Amino acid sequence: MNDPQWTTGPVLSGRGLVKRYGGQYALAGVDLDVRAGDAIAIVGPSGSGKTSLLHVLAGILRADSGEIHLAGRRIDQLGEKKRSELRRTEFGFVFQSGMLVAELTAEENVALPSLLAGRGRRESVRAGREWLARLGLGGKEGRRPGELSGGEAQRVAIARALTHRPKVIFADEPTGALDSRTGQETMNALLGAARESGAAVLVVTHDRELAESMPQTVAIRDGLIAARPAHGGLAA
Ligand SMILES: Nc1ncnc2c1ncn2[C@@H]1O[C@H](COP(=O)(O)OP(=O)(O)OP(=O)(O)O)[C@@H](O)[C@H]1O
Ligand SMILES: [Mg+2]
Repeated sequence: MNDPQWTTGPVLSGRGLVKRYGGQYALAGVDLDVRAGDAIAIVGPSGSGKTSLLHVLAGILRADSGEIHLAGRRIDQLGEKKRSELRRTEFGFVFQSGMLVAELTAEENVALPSLLAGRGRRESVRAGREWLARLGLGGKEGRRPGELSGGEAQRVAIARALTHRPKVIFADEPTGALDSRTGQETMNALLGAARESGAAVLVVTHDRELAESMPQTVAIRDGLIAARPAHGGLAA
């Protein structure tokens, strides 16, 4: 955490990222720098490469070429086991519709990544309860996903993405299944929680208004960055 090599540089950096499916380029050479505290909206038409970019940066997909550094350390050449460990410890994920475990309570869902990251049960549950309370879900810790509204379930998913204190949160259409007002509230909850925890956040969204409410926007078209954010966030 205090390695001087990266404390002033980006927390996550992608260089020349290329991802091909057959002859088609999902990513055609993307450079992106994410600094601590950044909140970046990723926008672009369907099929432009947004999910591919998140998955390549998070090490879910392997790029065909390019480099990824996390906190100054190259991570794209790591083996599957190490990358899976990074995903459990350094990254948090919020998906379009929760992907909560239906059989587990809100509190158990939220504690899960922290337990998987190797923290103790007591600490994981305590941290999970704190995040649930901060996200306005105090009193609903014992509910199962089926007993929550869509917006509440997404806030549980946000708490779950934060409890193990990740450096970067990846959110792919986290408000895609919500009405626009609940979507804006959920996005505000995500951004506020990320800010409090110090995590950077990358959010894919189709919602233009939501994207415009974010501090930075990166537009993708045909696997390439088409527009630079208003300030910071991208490599020179
Ligand atoms: N597993 C796959 N096999 C083959 N082609 C794929 C695969 N995943 C994605 N693609 C292709 O790569 C391109 C980028 O896809 P990607 O999922 O990154 O787009 P997206 O911007 O997230 O789109 P959407 O907004 O619809 O989610 C598309 O042309 C898609 O068809
Ligand atoms: Mg997508």
